Amino acid sequence: MSNIHIEGKQYTSLDNESVLDALLRQGVNVPHSCKSGNCLTCMLKTDSLDLPENCISKLPSNLHQQGYFLPCICITNTTINILPNNNNELFYSVRVVEYIKYNQDVCCIRLERPEGFAYKTGQIINIAIPNENRLIRSYSIASQPQRDAYIEVHVRRKLGGAFSNWLNDNLKIGDTLKIQGPQGNFIYSSPPQRKLLLIGTGTGISPLYGIISEALYCNHTGEIHIFYGSHNHTGLYLQQKLQSLVDENANIYLTCTLSGKDKQTIQEEDKITPGRANDIALKTIKDLNQFDIYLCGNPGMVKATQMQTYLAGALMSQIFIDAFEYKGT
Ligand code: FES
Repeated sequence: MSNIHIEGKQYTSLDNESVLDALLRQGVNVPHSCKSGNCLTCMLKTDSLDLPENCISKLPSNLHQQGYFLPCICITNTTINILPNNNNELFYSVRVVEYIKYNQDVCCIRLERPEGFAYKTGQIINIAIPNENRLIRSYSIASQPQRDAYIEVHVRRKLGGAFSNWLNDNLKIGDTLKIQGPQGNFIYSSPPQRKLLLIGTGTGISPLYGIISEALYCNHTGEIHIFYGSHNHTGLYLQQKLQSLVDENANIYLTCTLSGKDKQTIQEEDKITPGRANDIALKTIKDLNQFDIYLCGNPGMVKATQMQTYLAGALMSQIFIDAFEYKGT
């Protein structure tokens, strides 16, 4: 149990309860997403010095030197004094330079890239709306840093999701957003001759698109097999762009799949296979130990496919997953 002091009030955590869960349980509004130390949306600042190592070691050194820690993975018995966050230390203010509406459910946002903002495609950034700093969400970066002057993210409307709906309905070119990051290590890290198997669902395709762009930038010569699935047509918003990559590159292969009731409307010219992307990939690709495997999308699909590909012969060290999972309310 620990005592947590914040804004002149005192809260307590239960045994084995994280600082974040303790604050949320007692009605304190702390932004959060993954609750597993990956997205950094929950960062808080403290002047307490004896925090567990795990809740500071995942942060870039400049942030933990300034006193930030991750309350979602902080379980401690000590007293913690929370200081006000300095958002100027955490966030860049950036303008929306392009806004593309793929369909009614998915938009592509291109943000100006702050000077000195270094990232690798596939990492995530946290986005906040100015003056709404308690609402923060994480999105994968789909742009390629050497080629693109902007930072690109894809946002799919979530049922009841205030943030994703706002971005899909209200955002326009010239608006300002705040971004923090980048973080995460879901990035292209394969030798250029290695075969790649990429399985993504919905907007989980966005970091995979970035990884393909990065692979092409690095002159990747190995085969790249993409299995891109959705339960409805709007989730296949990137099919045309991926098809263009197939048309331009002899080593890229694309299979698009539909698993929901929209599969009954598939026409021959759609080039869509009915079924789940991971099931079809596993039926199609046999020599999995020859592949580096990148998985992103629905967390259930990602975790199940990680195990299925491993059991089918892939090396666990060659399976890369986007572990991000939103656990907010
Ligand atoms: S790192 Fe704490 S909620 Fe994601």
